[in-house]
Amino acid sequence: MTRPAVLVARAVFPDVVERLRHHFDVEHNPDDEVWSADELRRRLAGKSGALLTASERIDAALLDAHPRLRVLANMAVGYNNIDVPACTARGVLVTNTPDVLTETTADFGFALMMAAARRMAESEHFLRAGRWTKWSYDMFAGAEVHGSTLGILGMGRIGQAIARRGALGFGMKVIYHNRSRLPAEVEAPLGARWVDKATLLAESDHLVLVLPYTPANRHAIGAAELARMKPTATLTNIARGGIVDDAALAAALRAGRLFAAGLDVYENEPAVHPELLTLPNVVLLPHIGSATEATRRAMVGCAVDNLIAALTGGVPPTPVNPQVLAGWAA
Ligand code: 8YV
Repeated sequence: MTRPAVLVARAVFPDVVERLRHHFDVEHNPDDEVWSADELRRRLAGKSGALLTASERIDAALLDAHPRLRVLANMAVGYNNIDVPACTARGVLVTNTPDVLTETTADFGFALMMAAARRMAESEHFLRAGRWTKWSYDMFAGAEVHGSTLGILGMGRIGQAIARRGALGFGMKVIYHNRSRLPAEVEAPLGARWVDKATLLAESDHLVLVLPYTPANRHAIGAAELARMKPTATLTNIARGGIVDDAALAAALRAGRLFAAGLDVYENEPAVHPELLTLPNVVLLPHIGSATEATRRAMVGCAVDNLIAALTGGVPPTPVNPQVLAGWAA
């Protein structure tokens, strides 16, 4: 019997490829080349499954070109790179990697918020440039974190983990906005309060974005929303580029209408809006929110578990569109 063929679109830990080779014919990308859309299309030919990252775009036309594809295992909790309805319509299973990155990403989000508030990148650059010649009373005076109001837009698993850090570690007052209010037993230990979006913008001292990207929340934070925020506030985006209007953010930071920002994701990443690169009051990081070795291993392990289960008659642990499995079973 011929073994299913799978594609590993980006470089991963070498032992992961070995694990896959026990089950499949594997084509991988050990040099971690960034393939064009055409190259990805070519490489997917004849494959039953693929291990992807958030960098590979999968649309209906690509799916139609590869009718043998059965599973796309995204090594990410977010999956806005994949047209999930198009996959579902064609019986293609999509899986993601929730839970395993929650605490690591929350650590990072909190750290990025603190770095922006306490001007850590800006002051480090100052020191490295040899400009530190004396102490002064207001040198790099930042924004207070402990005891301030932490606002969370998108109170899912990672949002709640950030809220825990703020409420229990830093005595912060937590407010959040989500489509739906969390159960009282989740809110109570955090002292978290659901507010409408306008209140969240107006009351947050530190606003952290943790919502998934959908076309509906493109520019959920644009010029109008930024104008509602306190000029002393910080904004941190660890979710997805495109949720923030990067040009509007740069304008607000430049004009002092917002104190500082921390960004890990960008509208056109890996390109960064040139205005942002010129500003001292924004900490700019290269999409590393989940980047610890343990977590990246857990993420790829989860993606591989999904791929193997889906193609060998098992139960994939974290399907995004589980209705596809019901269709397979029928
Ligand atoms: C991934 C992420 O590392 O999980 C996500 O959604 O944004 C990151 O943790 C990145 O997307 C690569 O797939």
